[in-house]
Amino acid sequence: GRVVVLAGGLSHERDVSLRSGRRVSEALREIGVDVEQRDADSELLSALRADPPHVVLPLLHGAQGEDGAIQEVLSLAGLPYVGSSAAACRQAFDKPVAKSVTERAGLSTPAAAVLPQSTFRELGAAVLLDALISRLGLPVVVKPARGGSALGATVVRSGDDLPAAMVECYAYGEAALIEQWIDGTEVAVSVVDTGGGPRPLPAVEIVPESGTYDYHARYTAGTTEFFVPARLRPETSDTVADAAVTAHRALGLRDMSRTDLIVDGHGRAWLLDVNVAPGMTETSLLPQAAHAGGLDLGVLTRELLAAAAG
Ligand code: DAL
Repeated sequence: GRVVVLAGGLSHERDVSLRSGRRVSEALREIGVDVEQRDADSELLSALRADPPHVVLPLLHGAQGEDGAIQEVLSLAGLPYVGSSAAACRQAFDKPVAKSVTERAGLSTPAAAVLPQSTFRELGAAVLLDALISRLGLPVVVKPARGGSALGATVVRSGDDLPAAMVECYAYGEAALIEQWIDGTEVAVSVVDTGGGPRPLPAVEIVPESGTYDYHARYTAGTTEFFVPARLRPETSDTVADAAVTAHRALGLRDMSRTDLIVDGHGRAWLLDVNVAPGMTETSLLPQAAHAGGLDLGVLTRELLAAAAG
């Protein structure tokens, strides 16, 4: 039957989503799947109702795509879809919530504080930021509590730069997560489940040319070097693979996810973020991991679609 790939939406990651959608739609068409790519606009629900697809593949990143909103709509419409339930997306997308859930499951995450914009305004930047720095040290990473693709995120190395980083962050949402910087190797582990339980794909090691894996380094070909599989000791590879599967299970995720981690100098893995709608662009991590794992992106996606359709 016909498959609808949802891409676009109205989040800050709209362009990324359109690129993810194009890439996956092409991969599916190449193996003969009947695909329609559609934006998530005000006509969506009536269009899906008028001509219901066999199964839906939401590739919407950021708010509405990863916070459970689109999943809620698809459930209400009674349409099977690939990916996690609305409730699970809601937990995973909220970084402070995901941190506490994964910590309870035994994973390490960097020391952090959450600072709503209202508190930042009331208490005054100077006092608060001094307290933050004395607790967390420097550098810290300031990022929107809910967001993706490193938008609104800044690595702060000097206290003087913290107020501007906070203001930039609040442009993307009401709450900021300020995390201790962990020095080490950045890796991403994708987890897929086509029916036999969640399994990790090879870890991807991320080495941005600029030193920071920001939006530009994520989506401009040639600005980041990737090593797949990551250049980790075998026991560390197992540690990060286990961490990603543990995070996937602890957050109650389904079908696919990607967990981003830092491995420090002692081989300890620190969880940074869990994505319920991992990027699928030409430079994104899950497609590279699938390729290294011997999986064709189209075939893998077709298996996910078949499993979701039941
Ligand atoms: N948020 C982007 C799409 C990613 O993590 O790949």
